Amino acid sequence: MTLEELRARCEEVRREWAQASASAHDPEALEALRVRFLGRKGALATAFDSLRTLPAEARAAAGKLLNALKDEIAAALEARRAEVEREALQARLAGERYDLTLPGTWRPLGRLHPLTQVRREIEEIFLRLGFDVASGPEVETDYYNFEALAIGADHPARDEWDSFYIAEGLLLRTHTSPVQIRVMKSQPPPVRIICPGRCYRRDNPDATHSPVFHQIELLWVEKGLTFAHLKWILREFVTAFFGPGYEMRISADFFPFTEPSAQVHIRKPPGAWLEIMGAGMVDPAVLTEVGCDPEEVTGFAFGLGVERMAMLRWGIEDIRLFYQNDIRFLSQF
Ligand code: DAH
Repeated sequence: MTLEELRARCEEVRREWAQASASAHDPEALEALRVRFLGRKGALATAFDSLRTLPAEARAAAGKLLNALKDEIAAALEARRAEVEREALQARLAGERYDLTLPGTWRPLGRLHPLTQVRREIEEIFLRLGFDVASGPEVETDYYNFEALAIGADHPARDEWDSFYIAEGLLLRTHTSPVQIRVMKSQPPPVRIICPGRCYRRDNPDATHSPVFHQIELLWVEKGLTFAHLKWILREFVTAFFGPGYEMRISADFFPFTEPSAQVHIRKPPGAWLEIMGAGMVDPAVLTEVGCDPEEVTGFAFGLGVERMAMLRWGIEDIRLFYQNDIRFLSQF
């Protein structure tokens, strides 16, 4: 072989490389390229072998030529490798593009019933004010539901509480007020409780009546309590639950177990007045009945409807919606 022939061979290898490397697009093809050109039996190794057949004085120049070609191909191989990696990354990223306009996977999420939300919120307001949460039975005796609350058998006020009787002297409680009696009988003053619970009345269901509904009772009995304390508690409650900007109005009412008795209205001017609860100072006769001395301690109480609070808060106009378990209604809260 002559130096000229070797030079021609180098050119040939260079062309082959250019062609082969352009069509290598993955790591396997690159490895095949490396073997084909730089491997132990590759194109360059073969060319180095042919050095032996060259005249001695041409070998140094020929060796230089081959070494340069070898470095050139090795560098080109590295460059190609980087390029192939970049191509692979681009391809992966293109495949991974997120289409944010596609609808997501709907995962239904449960939530608390609006009445539960309201009950818990009111409980929290009064827990902050130092009240405990008490409870009593839904099946009540005539004594706790009526007699002890100064609603005698012939009292005309009984008409207000049309009752479901289970047996003689046993009924579904018509309000949460009997819990007042149970708590006062079980502990001496000071008493500071609220009692949320289910109540039952023989009402035909309509937009504002339901035979089953919920109340929250409040009772505070202690030395020196006056109507002013009741007013303060009511103001705290209205502000905490409805927010600032609500006016409150207290007017006379009648309940057999409170004296004086009151009804409480609120409004956000210029809106209309809305009744939110009945309240009053615990009647001395009730205090005496549970063993408290009305000369020693005084107390006040109120009873509010949980449904009423929820209806006012969200502008709900039919109480029956709370019990129909219609997911279209419930999912709004
Ligand atoms: N128990 C009454 C009702 O269901 C509401 C009520 C009024 C409760 C005055 C009270 C109160 O504690 O002081 O109509």
